Amino acid sequence: MPEGWQPARGQTAQALNPAAVHLWLVDLEQPASFENILSVDEQARAGRFHFERDRRRYVTGRGSLRLILGRYLGVEPAQIRFEYTTYGRPLLAGLLAGSGLRFNVSHAQTVYLLGVTRNREIGVDVEAIRPLPDALDIAGRFFAPGEQAALRRVPAADKEVAFFHCWTRKEAYIKALGSGLSQPLDEFEVSFLAGDPPRLLSVRDKPAEVERWQLHAFTPRPGYVAAVIAEGQGWRPEMFWLGET
Ligand SMILES: CC(C)(COP(=O)(O)OP(=O)(O)OC[C@H]1O[C@@H](n2cnc3c(N)ncnc32)[C@H](O)[C@@H]1OP(=O)(O)O)[C@@H](O)C(=O)NCCC(=O)NCCS
Repeated sequence: MPEGWQPARGQTAQALNPAAVHLWLVDLEQPASFENILSVDEQARAGRFHFERDRRRYVTGRGSLRLILGRYLGVEPAQIRFEYTTYGRPLLAGLLAGSGLRFNVSHAQTVYLLGVTRNREIGVDVEAIRPLPDALDIAGRFFAPGEQAALRRVPAADKEVAFFHCWTRKEAYIKALGSGLSQPLDEFEVSFLAGDPPRLLSVRDKPAEVERWQLHAFTPRPGYVAAVIAEGQGWRPEMFWLGET
């Protein structure tokens, strides 16, 4: 189990204090099988993966999502129904939609990150740090001018890590908005330099956004970076691990 994460407990809706944001880290290489709790459309999606490894990871991720949400909601994992927004975001459907439980997920390689809140919007993103020789070019296309300037000042040896910190924080924000790439990425700015507290710094024409959200960044496992943004100020992250302990 990675350092700082608690083993999964039987979470219930009551266990999710409104002042907390629960973060679940799922090991996508764990041996547990979740095949039987997936819906028909999820099983069909699983069947469309070209590589067995990707199929297995998808089943483990989606199955874990059902297992964990089922505990909060007090329902069998297989009973949960999802609906999808026009931008592809899964939401709880039917009666469960009124539960106030909100979630967002992100996956990268062997890591699946799930954020769960009560009555606050949330977005999460995890990325594996990898060589990115064109980091500055990508930043030039997607990042806000202030972010580009900050990244240029980062020493070469630290540039990739800094890039992924910026990327995950921006991605978490657009995922919390749920609007996919219809929110232009250069119209808002996040802090990401080592030593600077993670913050949404500005959003063009929407100054109230800065106070609306709290941003948190962390290293879920060595070689990865992650960010979570959720509505409101003063919430604290609580971290749970689902995998081999
Ligand atoms: C969903 C999106 C927002 C992020 O996708 P991604 O980073 O490739 O993938 P992640 O693993 O972080 O997230 C995927 C999950 O997000 C969720 N998701 C899908 N659409 C979403 C949306 N519009 N809003 C919030 N969450 C969404 C889904 O649960 C999905 O996983 P699932 O299909 O297994 O259920 C996608 O629209 C996208 O392409 N993003 C922009 C990529 C980019 O250019 N980023 C530049 C950042 S500087």
